[in-house]
Amino acid sequence: MIYPTFSQWNMTNKRIFLRADLNVPLSDGKISNDFRLISTLPTIDFILNHHGSIVLATHIGEPKNSVPELSTKILIPWFEQRGYSIIFIKDIGTISHLKVVPKQILLIENLRFFPGEKNGDPFFAKQLANTAHYYINDAFGVVHRNDCSVTLLPYEFPENRRSIGLLMEKELRALNVLKENPPRPFIAILGGKKIKDKIPLIHSLLKKVDALLLCPALCFSFLKSLSKPVGQSLVDDSMLTMCKKIILEAESSQIACLFPVDYQVAHNTIDGPLSIVPATKFPDNVIGISIGTETVALFTEEINHAKTIFLNCAMGFADRPETRESTKKIISAMAASSAKTVIAGGDSVDIALSTQNYQLINHLSTGGGAALAYLSDTLLPGLAAFEEE
Ligand code: 3PG
Ligand code: MG
Repeated sequence: MIYPTFSQWNMTNKRIFLRADLNVPLSDGKISNDFRLISTLPTIDFILNHHGSIVLATHIGEPKNSVPELSTKILIPWFEQRGYSIIFIKDIGTISHLKVVPKQILLIENLRFFPGEKNGDPFFAKQLANTAHYYINDAFGVVHRNDCSVTLLPYEFPENRRSIGLLMEKELRALNVLKENPPRPFIAILGGKKIKDKIPLIHSLLKKVDALLLCPALCFSFLKSLSKPVGQSLVDDSMLTMCKKIILEAESSQIACLFPVDYQVAHNTIDGPLSIVPATKFPDNVIGISIGTETVALFTEEINHAKTIFLNCAMGFADRPETRESTKKIISAMAASSAKTVIAGGDSVDIALSTQNYQLINHLSTGGGAALAYLSDTLLPGLAAFEEE
């Protein structure tokens, strides 16, 4: 376990670079869910209460260059409404010339607007490092990424001037419960779109779980690898060999791989009319969106027998609420169960928060891919700088 060390720092009149994951869901340019912002406040408040000033940095979305709608400026009103003193800094180079104002937040632009963030550019790391005396990584959601601000930047600070944040600590602590002797059976309910990221992680997860419940869109690459019909559903052809390997390994280790028995599908395009089809009669012209009622019943039974449940599975679209219903039912079944429960990922948590009894879920994690990577014992590049030699 890695612990924060920043409580030993003298933060008065110092600038602290805080890498956060404030990649909030947006709708019509507005923050539709502030869970990631709220989750980062303990670290922010600690620094400000100790008279430090924060250089606040995050990514939003997956832009390849500057996209005005994804500017971090959209976060400013949220902080102002809560009484924080926050200013937007366009040019990172100017920060080192500014006087340190205690209790002030300097918000820099979306890190992914700078090519250096994804290119592993050492000069970008130095430019970011020049803004602050200390570095804190509280961005659990990107701890599995090789982004410059996560992997290179901490090394620009001496060991006694870099630390993880309070959210990172909370996440690792909660996930450790699932990592170390989880009550069994342990089931993982997995779905969503970041297929390339997740499939290799599922391979490592086989060592941990007793059953995998595979859902849209993720399940279609597995089904295609078994030559089953998937219509026009999202498939990553580069992952089929890996999918096959996972299914065979699961079989030989007696880990159940459960697939939906019926699907909610959209006809012709993702905006097309919806219907439920059995898995055995998957039409050519439809796109699998979510699971059908029979699968909800089947998976609820699995949930009722499980003692540990991990879910990263946001099915459907925010702007078509009828496509979110099955995910909500699965999450409600998890909340009603007596198992240890974790729901992970921005979109999965977004759906969880719209259910009645989400408070009964043991842990809502701000990172989906990150939680999956941590659970499956995959190397987390974002933690390397904080691990003891
Ligand atoms: C997320 O939304 O899962 C995190 O913010 C990470 O974003 P990414 O998958 O675009 O790196
Ligand atoms: Mg996300």
